[in-house]
Amino acid sequence: MQREALSILDQRTHATYEIPIHNGTIRAMDLRQIATGHDDFGLMTYDPAFMNTASCQSSITFIDGEKGILRYRGYPIEQLAEKCTFLEVAYLILFGELPTEPQLKDWVAEITHHTMLHETTKKFLEGFRYDAHPMGMLASTVAALSTVYPESRHVLDHNVRALQIKRLIGKMPTIAAYTYRHSLGYPYVYPNNDLSYTENFLNMLWKMVEPKYPANPFLARALDILFILHADHEQNCSANAMRAVGSSQADPFLSIAAACAALSGPLHGGANEEVLKMLDVIGSKDNVSAYVGKVKAGEFKLMGFGHRIYKNYDPRARIVKWAADKVFEVTGRNPKLDIALELERIALEDEYFIKRKLYPNVDFYSGIIYQAMGFKPEMFTVLFAIPRTVGWLAQWQEMLCDAEQKIARPRQVYTGPAARDVVLT
Ligand code: CMC
Repeated sequence: MQREALSILDQRTHATYEIPIHNGTIRAMDLRQIATGHDDFGLMTYDPAFMNTASCQSSITFIDGEKGILRYRGYPIEQLAEKCTFLEVAYLILFGELPTEPQLKDWVAEITHHTMLHETTKKFLEGFRYDAHPMGMLASTVAALSTVYPESRHVLDHNVRALQIKRLIGKMPTIAAYTYRHSLGYPYVYPNNDLSYTENFLNMLWKMVEPKYPANPFLARALDILFILHADHEQNCSANAMRAVGSSQADPFLSIAAACAALSGPLHGGANEEVLKMLDVIGSKDNVSAYVGKVKAGEFKLMGFGHRIYKNYDPRARIVKWAADKVFEVTGRNPKLDIALELERIALEDEYFIKRKLYPNVDFYSGIIYQAMGFKPEMFTVLFAIPRTVGWLAQWQEMLCDAEQKIARPRQVYTGPAARDVVLT
C-alpha cells in the first residue's frame, strides 16, 4: 500500500525527515523537529491570510471551490433551499441532522420564545445617533447582551451553551429590526410569537399602525431562502474571528460581536452594500464597459466578484439570481438588475476575469433583491449576519468541543530591529 508520508531532505544539514500525511495535510508541528541545531527553534510555516492552512477539522460545511459545490452536513445547498425552512437548516447545521417533525416543532417553539429583548437593551439601542450604521449598532448591541446574560461566560457547560445559542438565533432578527426602526425614528415593534421566523422579522421591520402586519408569503419565503444560503460558509473571515475570539473562552455574545465586526468589512459581508453603491455609480448599462476598464486598470475592484475558494460560479449566486426573479414578480423589477446582468456578461467574457477565475459571488445579486424588498443598502450586511449567526455558533461549539483546539495564537516572523540599548539624547 502506498505510504501516506512526505520525505524531506534538509539541504542545510543533510538530515532527512518523514512527515505523515493525513487527509491531504501535514501537521505544521511536525516541521518543528527540522532544525539546524539545539539553538534553532525549528521550522515553521509562513502563510499570511491562511492561503493554504487548515486551522481545524470540521464536519459542518463542505465546499468544492473548483466545482462550485456547497453542502451543509452533506446536503446540497440547492436541495436545502428548495425543500427546507431556515430554522430546519439551522437545526441541521447545529446538530448534524435534519429535525424530525416533533424535534422541529420544539426547536421552532424554543427559538420563538427567545425573540424578546430586555427593555434595557432597547434603551441601549436608543442611545445611538440617528445615522449610526446598522452593522455598528448590531455588533455593539449583541456585545451588550453579554451584560444581560452574565452566566453565558460558562462556555464549557453544554446546557449554558445550548441556551445562549437559542437566545442568539431568536434575538438577532429583533436587534436587526430595531436598528432599522431606530434609523428611521419609528417606534420599535415587539416580536409576534404567532409568526414564522422571517414573517416575524418582516413584521418587526414594517408594521406601522395596523393591528397585524400581513407579510407577503412570497417575500417571507424568499427571505427564508436567502437566510438558508447565508447560514454557513466554513472557515471564512468571520467564522475564523468567531473561533479565534471564542478560543479564549470569551462568552458567545462577545464572540458573535467580533464575528459581526469581521463580516462588516467590504471584502466580506459588507460587499453586498458596496455592490449597490457600485451599481449607482455605474448608473446605466452603457457605462458598464468603461467601468470594467477601470477595474482592469486596477483603479478599484468589481464588488460582488471573486472568492478565495470558489474558482467556478458561486452556487449561492445562482440561487439568488433565481430568487430575484420570484421577488420581482411581487415587487416589480429592480432596474439595477439590468446593469448587474450586463456587468456579469461583460466580465465573464473578459480575459482579465477569466484568467483570475473571478465570478459573481453571493453578494452580487442579493442586494438587488433586498433593495426591491424595501431595504436600505446599509441594512444588507445585517441581513447577512442574522442567518450567519447559526454558522458562527456551530463553528464555535465545534471548536469548544474539539480536544485538539486551544487558544488561537499564531506565530510570526519577526522582521524588526535586533536588540539595542536605549540611549537618551
Ligand atoms: N475585482 C477585480 N479584481 C479582482 C477582484 C475583484 N472583485 N477580486 C480579485 N481580483 C484580482 C486581484 O486583484 C488579483 O489580481 P492579480 O493577480 O493581478 O494581483 C487576483 O484577482 C486574485 O485576487 P486576490 O485578492 O488574491 O483574491 P483573494 O482570495 O485574496 O480575495 C476576495 C477574495 C473575495 C476578497 C476578492 O475577490 C474581493 O475583494 N472581491 C470583492 C469583494 C467581494 O465581493 N467580497 C465578497 C466575498 S463573497 C461573500 C463572503 O462570504 O464574504
